[in-house]
Amino acid sequence: MKKVTLRIPATTANLGPGFDSLGCALALYNTITCEILPDDRLVIAGCPKEYQNEQNLAVQGYRAVLDRLGLPREGLAVTIAAEIPVCRGLGSSAALIAGGAAAANLLHGAPLSRAELLDVTNAIEGHPDNLAPAIFGGLTASLVEEGHAHTVQLPLCQRLRWVAAVPDFELSTHAARGVLPAAVPFADAVYNASRAAVLVGALACGDHDLLRCALRDRLHQPYRYALIPEADAVETTARECGALAFCISGAGPTLLCLTDDPGFSGRLTERCAAFCHHWQILELAVDRQGITVMEQPE
Ligand code: HSE
Repeated sequence: MKKVTLRIPATTANLGPGFDSLGCALALYNTITCEILPDDRLVIAGCPKEYQNEQNLAVQGYRAVLDRLGLPREGLAVTIAAEIPVCRGLGSSAALIAGGAAAANLLHGAPLSRAELLDVTNAIEGHPDNLAPAIFGGLTASLVEEGHAHTVQLPLCQRLRWVAAVPDFELSTHAARGVLPAAVPFADAVYNASRAAVLVGALACGDHDLLRCALRDRLHQPYRYALIPEADAVETTARECGALAFCISGAGPTLLCLTDDPGFSGRLTERCAAFCHHWQILELAVDRQGITVMEQPE
């Protein structure tokens, strides 16, 4: 039987002003094994029963690659070992889609490049800011032009520490996109465009002052804060603990802090213990590999 095992990193998308564009891969992983079966069954393990069907995102990624390659459907066994929390703004959906797609590619001779995998998978997800870092690793900026996703990998200061505050509740991306306005004031668009541009340089050099003023947003975060209980309190606390910059991770509800202080996450953990919700404080290294093959196709 042909089988492959892949590891796909978590991602934090948007990074404040880089809405639907910037994203960074973080060292928290889903591992997916895909095996071609000799019959036409679909067998899925490692996820709730309601996702053990064709709607499973890893299966959708897998099927999308077969379709792109013009190959017929085939029986498939998928085993998922997920570390990335679901519906928390850490790219769990993107990791499944990208993992399934990459597995299909590898099991059929790897004809697609990573850029092509991004393009195929973006047709499922619709916004490439989680998919691109999951596939390539590191910090990426992406756009969609005439339905096709394009991405560029960006330099990233190694001193920066990425600390996620992950709450004990979920928020669906659908709900978090549902509160966004259809149009924004011109001044808010300028506010974000200038900050997104400066942020790319600030993340490369790690300049504290630039990070503080560039990692701010008026396109999505002001509308989403109301969906995240205690977000204001966690932000105030994170800034008191010395966060250089703070934003919602992806569509939320996870909140992300940047710092270069090794004591920051310990202080934030102690202070967040007083909140009503449980906030798990995770300092995560940047993943620079993206999708990694753990076990080659047999
Ligand atoms: N850029 C997306 C959003 C990330 O914020 O809605 C979630 O997929």
